[in-house]
Amino acid sequence: MPTAVIIDAVRSPLGRRNGQLAGWHPADLAGEVLAGLVGRNDLDPVLVEDVIMGCVIQVGEQALNIGRNAVLAAGFPESVCATTVDRQCASSLQAVSFAAQGVMAGAYEVVVAAGVESTTRAPMGASMVPGLGAPFGPAMTARYAPVGGLVPQGIAAEAIADRWQLSRHDLDAYAVTSHQRAARASTEGRFAAQIIPMKVRDAQGHETGEVTSQDEGIRPLTTMESLGRLRPAFRLGGSITAGNSFQMADGAAAVLVMSEGRAEALGLVPRARLRAFAMAGVDPVTMLSGPIPATAKALERANLTLDDIGLIEMHESFASVVLAWARSLGLDMARVNVNGGAIALGHPLGCSGTRLVTTLVHQLENSGARYGLAAAGEVGGTANALVIERLG
Ligand SMILES: CC(C)(COP(=O)(O)OP(=O)(O)OC[C@H]1O[C@@H](n2cnc3c(N)ncnc32)[C@H](O)[C@@H]1OP(=O)(O)O)[C@@H](O)C(=O)NCCC(=O)NCCS
Repeated sequence: MPTAVIIDAVRSPLGRRNGQLAGWHPADLAGEVLAGLVGRNDLDPVLVEDVIMGCVIQVGEQALNIGRNAVLAAGFPESVCATTVDRQCASSLQAVSFAAQGVMAGAYEVVVAAGVESTTRAPMGASMVPGLGAPFGPAMTARYAPVGGLVPQGIAAEAIADRWQLSRHDLDAYAVTSHQRAARASTEGRFAAQIIPMKVRDAQGHETGEVTSQDEGIRPLTTMESLGRLRPAFRLGGSITAGNSFQMADGAAAVLVMSEGRAEALGLVPRARLRAFAMAGVDPVTMLSGPIPATAKALERANLTLDDIGLIEMHESFASVVLAWARSLGLDMARVNVNGGAIALGHPLGCSGTRLVTTLVHQLENSGARYGLAAAGEVGGTANALVIERLG
């Protein structure tokens, strides 16, 4: 079976909703990142057989296979194929798995896993079109009625905080750490090698002359006091606030995956090997506890234990989700999200999986750790995890 390797992993800087990337059509934003990826590796894009792109809100500017539209926006040859994947918050983590699995099956030699989302231009919820019905049909609704019915993600995050006995203090303290870690990583230039600088565009899409390579969401001055002033966002008397939840964001990321043999033939040096992939499903009401079994399953498939894993990128949908996962697995947080996560950097939904892998590849090299794990939970109760091994 061919070995799947990562040659490079890049991302745009992340923008706040209505922020620095708001003037970018998401297909062009993703196209810019794809062009940056092949450009900096001197790779002729004609060699890319497929682009597998995560995107969640596939409506408006993100409709009609944004993966293909991004390929054409990037100026790649028309022969380069693309597809768009929706596995909710881990869409592009799934894209990395699909890309690697395709290589391992011998179906691809060169493939790009990517992700994009503009929560500015295709806001969350926009794909639920008024007048066209609801996504949960009568059968699914009836199935979960006895346990109180299906709930929004924020309510699930509250339920997780209750079940794992996580206090508002615990959640806010985690959020402060996320901002502090992201601020330090940014100040120390730890993101520089993974970011493709983006030209800033105004609301009409015209370039303003500015270029950005900084993540916009980080609030270095976040304190327990400033977070303590925020009101619960989902439940009266609850503990989940805008400050201890992910921030809406815009961004794109891309990971170049090849067979080891093709990389060698092209003279490209692999940076990491894709070791194992796993998915797990849990009940869609608690919803976000899926990374607990997904992590365990990925480790088992990699024939590793948590002690072998030097770094973990665990999607920060909500502080309660990360803390419950860590508590269940008996993990200390010293090797988890060492450069912050979606609470500080933001969560451009379809982009976040490849953002996690990108940060992981680069941070494994910065730290010298050998194995890294990325995991994310998804709306609907599914979760993805994968294990990579640094080679460079
Ligand atoms: C959590 C959620 C309610 C936050 O709402 P939002 O409107 O995007 O939050 P904002 O980023 O605008 O922040 C709200 C306020 O908190 C403040 N805030 C956020 N983070 C802060 C921080 N670290 N320090 C201080 N204040 C902060 C903001 O400044 C803002 O204050 P303002 O209203 O005075 O401007 C929203 O993101 C949400 O609904 N998320 C879950 C969605 C979901 O279920 N998705 C399912 C599919 S993935």
